[in-house]
Amino acid sequence: MDQTILNNLLQPKSVAIVGASTQPGKIGYTVIENLLKGGYQGKIYPINPTASEILNLPVFPNISAVPGDIDLAVITVPVKLACQVIEECGQKGIKALSVITSGFSEVGRQDLEQEMLDIARHYGMRILGPNIVGTLSNSDKLNASFAPFLPFPGKATLITQSGALLIAMDAITYTRKVGFDKMISIGNMADINFADLITWLDTDDHTSCICLYIEGLKDGRRFIEASRNTKKPIIALKAGVSAHGAAAAASHTGSLAGAVKVYGAAFQQAGVVQASDLNNLFDRTLALSLQPPLRKENLLIITNGGGVGVLATDAAERYGIPLKFAPEDVQSELKKHMPDYGSAKNPVDLTGMAGNDWYYKSVKFAFAHPWTDGLVVLYCETAITNPVEIAQAVKKAIDDSGVKDRPVVVSMVGGTRCDEAMQWLVENGIPAYPTPDQAMNSMAALREYNNIRLMNTGEVESCGPKSSRIAREIIAKARADGRSSLTEIEAKKVFAAYRLPVAETNLSRSEEEAVELATKTGFPIVMKVVSPDIIHKSDAGGVKVNIKDEAGIRSAYQAILKSCKTYKPDADIRGIAVQEMAPLGTEVIVGSINDPTFGPTIMFGLGGIFVEVLKDVTFRVAPVNKELVRQMINEIHSVAILAGARGESPRDRAALEDLLCRYAGMVYDLCDEVAETDANPVLVYGEGEGLKVVDARIILKKK
Ligand code: COA
Repeated sequence: MDQTILNNLLQPKSVAIVGASTQPGKIGYTVIENLLKGGYQGKIYPINPTASEILNLPVFPNISAVPGDIDLAVITVPVKLACQVIEECGQKGIKALSVITSGFSEVGRQDLEQEMLDIARHYGMRILGPNIVGTLSNSDKLNASFAPFLPFPGKATLITQSGALLIAMDAITYTRKVGFDKMISIGNMADINFADLITWLDTDDHTSCICLYIEGLKDGRRFIEASRNTKKPIIALKAGVSAHGAAAAASHTGSLAGAVKVYGAAFQQAGVVQASDLNNLFDRTLALSLQPPLRKENLLIITNGGGVGVLATDAAERYGIPLKFAPEDVQSELKKHMPDYGSAKNPVDLTGMAGNDWYYKSVKFAFAHPWTDGLVVLYCETAITNPVEIAQAVKKAIDDSGVKDRPVVVSMVGGTRCDEAMQWLVENGIPAYPTPDQAMNSMAALREYNNIRLMNTGEVESCGPKSSRIAREIIAKARADGRSSLTEIEAKKVFAAYRLPVAETNLSRSEEEAVELATKTGFPIVMKVVSPDIIHKSDAGGVKVNIKDEAGIRSAYQAILKSCKTYKPDADIRGIAVQEMAPLGTEVIVGSINDPTFGPTIMFGLGGIFVEVLKDVTFRVAPVNKELVRQMINEIHSVAILAGARGESPRDRAALEDLLCRYAGMVYDLCDEVAETDANPVLVYGEGEGLKVVDARIILKKK
């Protein structure tokens, strides 16, 4: 699709309003009023079949009556007229449409949305919306929306799925003084989606940070790719994180996957920083749009109050920022700008005596010093200082330090005088916040942005055609059998085809055969029922472990058959699996889902209570490389167990990393066939001793 059409949408030289209204208060009137009020310099063409003049502009009866080209048509006619006027726009040669009209897929009229899309495709047009507020751009003085005014000017650009929230956020930009260049309402995303806009904004000189409000993505993989290829920071607030996980799941992994975790993983892989709520979105956007990333770890706090210094230190720990003391030479220079009872450690406490001069000198010296990678300046309102003057001293110190590639944020704690000072700072390019926590959280955003950008997500090992062929043959047989899942033995064969180390397992159809197989495998062994109708084998009494001899096999065989028949009398029992009994090891769980938004996604966690009770699991969108897998393992809270807790030797992390990479490769390769999988448990042994997949489950996609 032609991305250059987005120039017509977001920087139009002429705009037609199709559905222009003569009546104040109607959307077709308000858009024209807003264009005029915003100072739009391009041509405005109101289209209305009966009117002759609206807001002193001549009105055209239809789009073909307009002389010359039109870059953008804003559609404000009722839904029943939408397709007809869009067809006329196509005939006129208009390429970009902003469809404000509601009444499409959001109310179940997918047919109308498709009809509109077909017309657009036919004429090579691109559509924003439908069901949107419109677009706003300070740099083009373009308010082609029914939001009342252009946002407080700045360098962030908002893309939002909620139109109402756009209008609310537009107003908040003035109270929070967080500046935006553009605000784009994306609506139903019938055509133009987040990925398209992100790619376009990457080349927009007026945008330094892309701010997203997301309810649900349509094409998760394109979003990841577009975001990852962007050179600008992207911050996202994801709403609606609770309903997603409610879908019924056949696998353990499926039941643990929720939108928070899967979206969280995808955002990391996309290099997108997250916000926790609307306030946090503004806080973080402010820092990301005004400051460079925090590239290294040495963060210095300068304060005039011990209390706010401690609060900032606590916040640093909360957001994972390590604090170190500056080297002696830095400390002794800083000591010159404070009384004896001050502290040059970190936080640097200038004390309540600190005035403009001490702030200026210490901030200038500290920021210019090569040890400092980032600075947090705190100020508590005092009777002997003027907050605006302190703000000006801090700003001058930053400017005079000559440093431009390291971040600084400020927190001024106090009343209206501090508000005024912070507003001045923000207008002069320095993010300022009313609490130390907000300042530190925003610095953490600058650090997260740096870290996720550096993460290497490329170079994924591929699995080769042979693995795929073997797996697909097994799956085809199960489908021919009318089954929607594989038996454990089949699942293990699929795993083995992708070189995953599985515990040897064979099918016996009689006691005699079980004895024969066990003799080959070697005692002790495990026996498990094989039935497509019994997924939870232990619950059915279908598993016996640690069988040491022939007599044990015979009694286990009978006992399993008996209890499974009681559990499910009509179960189709295909035999009993005879499996090598893997030695004890640290239990982990690996699994996958085929997420509706992001496709194949893998999960990892420690087994037992860590997964059952604590749900200490982590996800990544497949495929993955070693770096992503290392990060995944480090992310679980119980990771210390793998390093060898309570006297155990460290576990074989290298084997685990290999397994996760191959597992992700397998589910990615089979994503057209496989819905969910579990390898549970996987037993991980000591370093160099590898691991074993003891149980395997593969649920097929419905076809
Ligand atoms: N070409 C151009 N204009 C036409 C037309 C045509 N073929 N046929 C009618 N019009 C004119 C009408 O005469 C009217 O002008 P008038 O007020 O001077 O008579 C104007 O278009 C608007 O039509 P009207 O029937 O009055 O519609 P409306 O203003 O009540 O509603 C929408 C139109 C698009 C605003 C409404 O249908 C809608 O979708 N509202 C929801 C918008 C929204 O919430 N978006 C999402 C936000 S998150």
